[in-house]
Amino acid sequence: MRNRPIGVFDSGIGGLTVVRALMEALPQEQIVYFGDTARVPYGVKSSATVAGYAAQITDFLLKRDVKMLVVACNTMAAVALNVIVDMSPVPVINVLDAGAAAAARASRNGRVGVLATLTTVHSGAYVRALECYRQDLAIVSQACPLFVPLVEEGWVDHPVTTLTAREYLTPMLAAEVDTIVLGCTHYPLLRPVLARLAGDEVALVDSASTTAAQVGAMLRASDLACTQARVPRHEFHVTDFPQRFRAVGELCLGRPLPDVHLVHW
Ligand code: DGL
Repeated sequence: MRNRPIGVFDSGIGGLTVVRALMEALPQEQIVYFGDTARVPYGVKSSATVAGYAAQITDFLLKRDVKMLVVACNTMAAVALNVIVDMSPVPVINVLDAGAAAAARASRNGRVGVLATLTTVHSGAYVRALECYRQDLAIVSQACPLFVPLVEEGWVDHPVTTLTAREYLTPMLAAEVDTIVLGCTHYPLLRPVLARLAGDEVALVDSASTTAAQVGAMLRASDLACTQARVPRHEFHVTDFPQRFRAVGELCLGRPLPDVHLVHW
């Protein structure tokens, strides 16, 4: 059981921001990644649709004998976590909870901005999770439906992205937030642009490193941590355009990717 892989999934390449943190924190763990590149973006779709997709991916990864599932997609965590948890005999960690915990800890003035997909913002899941960790927060949420297509296109530092980000950030900066949570796993790839616009006084919090820490803690607590000193063979599965995923994915991960497999459902 300890030598089995960890299943990590997202609608596209965004979950690679979590994979990167996992590879750094837990280098001996094998990862099986699933990116639903044929159906991305999820964040503008209904909860019922996203829940159906999440169930399909969970089934795919469980059939690969994973020892843990990491929901590296805030949108699925926001609207489909119960579906995933109900199906899973193995522990489930999700980025939304990790992101909320990190943001609640980071804020000094109690004003927190949430950048997330439309579906995540409409679900209210971030506000609920933040309020679980801290009751004194004033929260400003902003749906950013244009960010995911820009990232999937590889336009992570482009004038169009800067203009779009300025539009999305203006209301929360006017509300004087001191912490902004990047509530979608695609958004850390826009960190340079967002940091430039938000300025040094505003902390940008993403859930990748907190999620990796939670995964490590859960593996140890459940006696599932791999104890072999090994260089794991990671697997990447996508539902469309594997070559494109590989090219953009290598930029995100900062390392070469092995073959990316095309999934035929
Ligand atoms: N990266 C995902 C998230 O964290 C989903 C983005 C999308 O497909 O719209 O919300």
